[in-house]
Order: sequence, then structure tokens, then C-alpha cells
Amino acid sequence: MADSDLLDKLVSLAKRRGYIFQSSEIYGGTGSVWDYGPLGVELKRNVKDAWWRSMVHERDDIEGLDAAILMHPRVWEASGHVEEFTDPLVECRNCHRRFREDTLQAEGGTAEMANVRCPACGVTGQWTEPRQFNLMFRTHMGPVEGEGSVVYLRPETAQGIYVNFLNVQSTARQRVPFGIAQIGKAFRNEITPGNFTFRTREFEQMEMQFFVEPGSDAEWFERWREARMRWMLEDVGLSADRLRYHPHEKLAHYASAAGDIEFFFGGTIGDAGWGEIEGIHNRTDFDLRRHQEYSGKRLDYIDPGTQKRFLPYIIETSAGADRVTLAVLADGYREEQVEGETRVVLGLKPSLAPLKTGVFPLVKKDGMPERATRIHQELRRRGIQSFYDEAGAIGRRYRRQDEAGTPYGITVDGETLESGTVTVRDRDTMEQVRIAEDQIASYLSERIG
Ligand code: GAP
Repeated sequence: MADSDLLDKLVSLAKRRGYIFQSSEIYGGTGSVWDYGPLGVELKRNVKDAWWRSMVHERDDIEGLDAAILMHPRVWEASGHVEEFTDPLVECRNCHRRFREDTLQAEGGTAEMANVRCPACGVTGQWTEPRQFNLMFRTHMGPVEGEGSVVYLRPETAQGIYVNFLNVQSTARQRVPFGIAQIGKAFRNEITPGNFTFRTREFEQMEMQFFVEPGSDAEWFERWREARMRWMLEDVGLSADRLRYHPHEKLAHYASAAGDIEFFFGGTIGDAGWGEIEGIHNRTDFDLRRHQEYSGKRLDYIDPGTQKRFLPYIIETSAGADRVTLAVLADGYREEQVEGETRVVLGLKPSLAPLKTGVFPLVKKDGMPERATRIHQELRRRGIQSFYDEAGAIGRRYRRQDEAGTPYGITVDGETLESGTVTVRDRDTMEQVRIAEDQIASYLSERIG
């Protein structure tokens, strides 16, 4: 399959199986925001849970936080977003469509705008001078609209962590080095959103800020870079040959070192198909220093052992929940030829799959539906997400679950009624084994992880 086809196939599969829908579809939709359907919400939640488990639950040195989306407007002056969070915007004088200048230059293979064609109307070189466009959404707090009531929808979750640094440190009695983790929505008025859920105007971030003593920052940066790559490989199960680490040459205003974990999506995403799914940054003491300056409150830390006073440096790991979820879908998608037919499979890691098993009566008679329903309900009671399906030929039912990414399928047949055994079908190999009915839950639990 050509790379460029993959995203189209995913958009169609995601809609067909209830993973992802266009937002406000009945009104014609928007190209910049998406809704997660019944299976999508479970998959994305499993991704976020895996992150929270590895960052917060399995560590003594990271605390969780859920800060508000709306913050004091001065936060965004201190962070540099009011001044610096901009992209260069140009408009085609012929069709009046607007684009990011740097994206047009990269796609056109030239920095000379006179030679760049408008992707919308095809006219070459009719561009306005670039102007810096701020990506933050502005709104008003309270019933009076005016400059004094302006607030922003946060463009990153990180700032909620910085302003709570001392609250969390003191109440959780943490000592530097330690981290604060948060998952939440962020909003950016991207000039050119697109590529499905890869670049949207509303998305979710999984961010962790690790506070360290200056001087130990380079070592912690390295440790987090390795840990995050390991998480993508082991916990998310992304293929090693589709992951790479890409160090930044051009650094953001707050960073002294930075790099991205990139996934190979193919098509028009990122750099020849490689798109960023997580950024890792050494933010120095930029953030705490600026918040200290703008708020007038001291944010330095006193080490209780050495009595040393310092402003911690911050190592940030910032992953997009939507982009990691899209990478999981892209990595799992495959088509195979089976007995002259195309079998579409979503090879999701079982621990992330929304449904763990389908339960099917072979036929709709002889007490099989009742027996299968009992098994299905018992699995749900034990917290194993199961889907009961008695509609259509058994082969069809298997295929529907293959496409949905369900790793196992349990079939109740004539032998179940005689000997109390069922077949368990493996999504990837399509092989079936026969096991006792009372072994189903433990058989699945061992394999789901
Ligand atoms: N606090 C640092 C920060 O926000 P970033 O590299 O701008 O860094 C981090 O964003 C992650 O957020 C990216 O790696 C990506 O996964 C996700 N992200 C950023 N912009 C996005 C967008 N428009 N749509 C979807 N995800 C986005």
C-alpha cells in the first residue's frame, strides 16, 4: 500500500468502526477538530492510562495534577506566548486563502515566494508580505468584553504545572529532582490544520515537567529521552523501524536542548512522512524565572539537606495523546489476502485495544446464544471488555472484530454444549485453540497484559 493511501484508509476505517468522526459532521464538519467514537474514546483512554501509569503510578518521584484550562492572562505574557507563539501567515491575493509561509516554502522546495504556487487556486507568486499570526485562541472572562477581560485557551498544559510548582512540591513533600505530570486539552489556532488528527486546533497533551538542580540537567535530559523512547516501544508497542529521535537544530525561545520522537506516518505528514509525536526539552530555569519575575512571588527551592537555594531547571516531556493514538492506528493497520479476499486487520497491542474479545454463538439456536451471552457478561463483570455478536456468518463476525482491532474471539459451538469447551481465535494468526469455559478469563488476562 502506498504511504499516501494509509491516512485515507484510516479515516474511512475510523469512521466505519466508530473510532473517530468529523466534528459537527451533520453541519458539513470542520477540518480542524475531530470526535472520538465508542472505540476511539477507549483506545485514546488506554493510551493515556498507559502514560499515567508509567509516569505517576509507577514512580515515587512524579506527582499528578489537573490544572484549569483558563489561566491568568499574565501567565501567557510570562511564558512568552503573547509575543512569540506565532507563525508567519501569507495570503494569496488571487483567492484570499491563507497559509503558513514556511510550510508553503518547504512543500514548494524554494524559499522564493515569487515561485510558489497557491495550493488552493494554482496561481503562482501572488502572495502578501508575511505577518506574524498568534496561535492562541482569545476569549473573554465574565460578562463584560474588553481588553481587561481577555483570557486565552491554553496552548499547552505545561504552564499550569509551573505556576503550581511550589504548591505540589510542598504538599506532596517532594524533593528536587521530582516531576509533575498532567494530561489535558490544549488549543492552537493553527493556520493550516490537517492530516486527520495529526494537526488539529483542539487536542490533548500528556506533559511531564521534571525539576532538577542546575548542572544535572544534561544528564536528566538524556535519561528522559531514553525513557520516553522505551515507553513508545514497550508500553505503546510502536514498531522500532517507524520510530526515530530527531534533535532540533533551531531551538524554541525557552530551550537549551530539544528533540522530537518521530513516527513514520508516511504521506504528507512532517518531514517525508516522519511526524513529531513527542517533544523533549531542556527548558533551563526560563519558566520559573519568568513566572517569578511576572508574579513577584519567589519560586526558588531550598534543599532541606544542604540548605542550598536555587531555581530548578526543567526537563519537559510533551506528548500528544491524539498523535500517539494516530500512530497506534497507523502502525496497526494492515491488509492481507486471505482465500481471495482482502482481510483488514488493526493489529493493536492487546493492552491498548478497546475490546479484548468478541463472543459469538456459532448459530442462533440450540441454546448457544444464551451460553455465549453468559460468557460475555461474566467477562465484563471481571473487567475484560467484551463484545457480543450473533449477527451474520461467523466469518463475517470475525472480520468485523479484526478491523476493530479486537485481539481474541470466543466461539460457542455444538461441542461447548457437550463438553463445556469453547474455541479462542487469535486475531493475528487466525489460529484457534479449544479451552475449557472456566479458563477463558485467565487465558485472556494472561495475554492482554
Ligand atoms: N509544552 C511544550 C509543547 O507544547 P510542542 O512540541 O509544541 O511542545 C507537544 O507540543 C506535543 O503536542 C507535540 O509533540 C504533539 O504531539 C502535540 N501537538 C502539538 N500541536 C498539535 C496539534 N496542532 N494537533 C495535535 N497535536 C499537537
